[in-house]
Amino acid sequence: MAEIVVEGGQRLTGEIPVSGAKNAALPLMVVTLLSSDPVTLTNCPDLHDIGTLSNVLHGHGTEIDASRIGAGSGAGLPVLRMHTPEIKSVRAPYELVSQMRASILVLGPLLARTGRAEVSLPGGCAIGSRPVDLHLMGLEAMGASIELRDGYVVAYTPQDGKSRLKGAKINFPKVSVGATENLVMAATLAEGRTEMFNAAQEPEVVDLCKCLINMGAQISGLGTSHLIIDGVDRLHGVEHQVISDRIEAGTFAVAAGITGGELILKNGHLEHLGALVAVLEASGTVCTQLDSGIHVVSAAPRPNGTNVTTEPYPGYPTDLQAQIMSLMTIATGTAVLTETIFENRYMHVPELIRMGADIDVDGRVAVVRGVDKLFGAPVMATDLRASASLILAGLVAQGETVVGDIHHLDRGYERIEAKLSAVGAKIERQG
Ligand code: EPZ
Repeated sequence: MAEIVVEGGQRLTGEIPVSGAKNAALPLMVVTLLSSDPVTLTNCPDLHDIGTLSNVLHGHGTEIDASRIGAGSGAGLPVLRMHTPEIKSVRAPYELVSQMRASILVLGPLLARTGRAEVSLPGGCAIGSRPVDLHLMGLEAMGASIELRDGYVVAYTPQDGKSRLKGAKINFPKVSVGATENLVMAATLAEGRTEMFNAAQEPEVVDLCKCLINMGAQISGLGTSHLIIDGVDRLHGVEHQVISDRIEAGTFAVAAGITGGELILKNGHLEHLGALVAVLEASGTVCTQLDSGIHVVSAAPRPNGTNVTTEPYPGYPTDLQAQIMSLMTIATGTAVLTETIFENRYMHVPELIRMGADIDVDGRVAVVRGVDKLFGAPVMATDLRASASLILAGLVAQGETVVGDIHHLDRGYERIEAKLSAVGAKIERQG
C-alpha cells in the first residue's frame, strides 16, 4: 500500500503550479453527453476520478482520448478529447458510480439527450450520506418520472421518454453544487424556461455554465443564486479550458502558512479562494494576486487562532476545513471550527490528536486549542481532504509522519508530493 512520508521542519519557498480543478473537470466532462459534436477540455487534471468518470462515459458511448489519464504524470492532461456521436446505453452501473459519486451528474444529460436514464444511486461516503433528493426533485419538477428500482434511479421524460423535459421553477431548500449542475445541464435542452432559486454559486458551477453557453446554451445569472436557462434544440461542440483548482490552491496557501514560508501559486485566482483569504489574513498569512498567480506569505512566527464556519460559496469552503484545522493546531490561542455542510467531516481529528493536537469535537463544532509543537506519527485518513490535512500537519511536525492509504489523495491532488518537494518539503511517496 503506497504511503507518503514527510519529515517536518522545512520552510516552503518557491512556485507551485496549480492544476485544473477536479470539481470543474468532472461536470465539464459530462457535457459530452449533451451534444453529438466533439468536446475538448484543456488544463484537465490527471486524477483517478477523471479516469473513473471516463469509464462511465465510455459505457454510454463516449469515445474518449484516455491516453494520459491515470498516468500520474503530474503534468496534467494537456488535452482531453471526447466525442459522443450517439448514446449507446443509458445505464450507469453501480460498480462505477459507487467509486465516484459525481457520476450521478450523467442523470440530467441522459434524460435531456435520450429521454431515459438508469443511474445507480451513488450511496454515501466517508464524509456523509450524500443524498441526491434535490437532483430528483428538480428533474420531477421538469416533468421526469422517477422510480427507485434495485438501487437505481430509473427516469423517463414525459410520454415514456418520447418528449422533452419541460422548463420549470426550481427552489432549492438548501444549496447543492451537484444538483445545480445536474439540473442546469438538463435545462439546456428542455422545452421553455427553467428558473433556479438558491442555486450554487461555486466557481466550478460558473465554469460549467460558461462552457454550456459556448456550446449554444442560453443561461443567465452566472455567479448568482438565481439562474435562468432557456432551452434550445441542440448544443454544438466546444473547446474549453478548465479553471484552476481553488481547493488545491487553498491547500498550498495553508502549506505556506503552516511552514512560515512564501509561495507563488501559479495560475491561482485569488477571488476563487473566497473566505479563505480573510481567514488566512486573520491568522497571519497574507495572499495577494499577481499576474502569474497568488502570492502567499506567512507574516507571523505562529498563526493566530481564527474561528471558521463552512458555508456555500462565497463562504468558507468545506473542502478546506480539514486543511485550516491543521494550521490552527499550532496557533496561538483557540480556534472554533463549525462544519455546516457535511455531517461527518472530522475524521482527520483523531489522527491530528495522535500527532499532539488538542482538539475537542461536539457534533458539527471542533474546538482547536493551539499547541507549541506537533510530533510526527503514522496516520491514516479516510477521505481526500483529511489526507491533505495530515500532510500539512506533517510539514510542521517534529520528526517523521507517514500518511497511509493515499489512494484518497490521488483522487483530488495531482502528484502532491512532487509539487511540495519542489518548494523545499522533505516528502516522498513510498510503495
Ligand atoms: C460538491 O459535492 C463537491 N464535489 C464536493 O467536493 C464539495 O464538498 C461539495 O460540492 C460542497 O461544496 C464535486 O464537485 C465533484 P452538494 P456535492 O450537493 O455536489 C446535501 C471534494 O473533496 N445534499 O453541494 O455532492 C449534501 O448531503 C468533494 O472535492 C442533499 O441534501 O455537494 C450536503 O450536506 C467532497 N440533497 C450538502 O447538500 C442533495 O440532493 C451540499 O452537498 C444533494 C446534496
